[in-house]
Amino acid sequence: MNYKLIDFTVHGDNRGKLVALENNKEIPFEVKRVYYMFDTLPNEARGFHAHKELEQIIIAMDGACRFILDDGEKREQVLLNRPDVGLYIGKNMWREMHDFSYGCKLVVLASEYYDEQEYIRNYDDFLKSLKDGK
Ligand code: TYD
Repeated sequence: MNYKLIDFTVHGDNRGKLVALENNKEIPFEVKRVYYMFDTLPNEARGFHAHKELEQIIIAMDGACRFILDDGEKREQVLLNRPDVGLYIGKNMWREMHDFSYGCKLVVLASEYYDEQEYIRNYDDFLKSLKDGK
């Protein structure tokens, strides 16, 4: 499974907490794009796609969200609910986002610019792309 949870270093003192993320250090790639999701709803799932080349780190800045991650053979769930943890998702992973808490805010750091052509939005096409890639 090409994903992992990364615990970020927290610089905390009596003023509050701070997390710093740098390219090729805490983030295992060069960030080309940042996007974020807010005003999501608990009964509205998102994602349902995979990427051949894109790598991402997703951080629940506020609230929580349940991820389903699937490499074509195994399907696992991850609850993302901390601003000091990043979910790294590598290449060729199907992802779904479910059960957003009210007010959830997800920030995504991505290794490539947005390219709709790079999305695989059909699960059967995803399985086929894995088979063709081998
Ligand atoms: P979409 O891929 O449906 O979001 P999710 O994967 O979370 O379900 O994206 C929603 C819209 O935003 C869609 O019209 C494409 C657009 N979009 C961009 O323009 N740039 C981006 O970087 C992203 C991620 C999406």
